[in-house]
Amino acid sequence: LASIEVDVSSLQPGMSLTAKWRGKPVFIRNRTDKEVEDAKAVPLEELKDPVARNANLTTDAQATDLDRSAGEGKENWIVMIGSCTHLGCVPLGQAGDFGGWFCPCHGSHYDTAGRIRKGPAPENLAVPTFSFVSDTVIKIG
Ligand code: FES
Repeated sequence: LASIEVDVSSLQPGMSLTAKWRGKPVFIRNRTDKEVEDAKAVPLEELKDPVARNANLTTDAQATDLDRSAGEGKENWIVMIGSCTHLGCVPLGQAGDFGGWFCPCHGSHYDTAGRIRKGPAPENLAVPTFSFVSDTVIKIG
């Protein structure tokens, strides 16, 4: 299946872009330290969906901030399919009660790690298979 490479060199902390992969939006965000700290501070028992939903990890990986992110040393980066896990609308960035993403269709709030925190969506935003092919280029798929 087709993969794409995305240049993220222009993304300063706090900036994001939306790529298109297999007909779906993919959100790539260079999170600020505060956004990472906010997500890390959430106890796992508070999560509606405790599973990482990260295609790069085993299916039983927990939804810690690290396992939602691009991993050790790249925790600031988060890559997710931009499709609400309720009925597939495209959530808005830097919105909602948890400062992450907000789906305006029926009011699902995701935190800065893309984890569902409030509203009807059942699962965290999905993390697709991806890797950094250099410091500034991410390959998705
Ligand atoms: Fe997002 Fe329903 S599709 S809340």
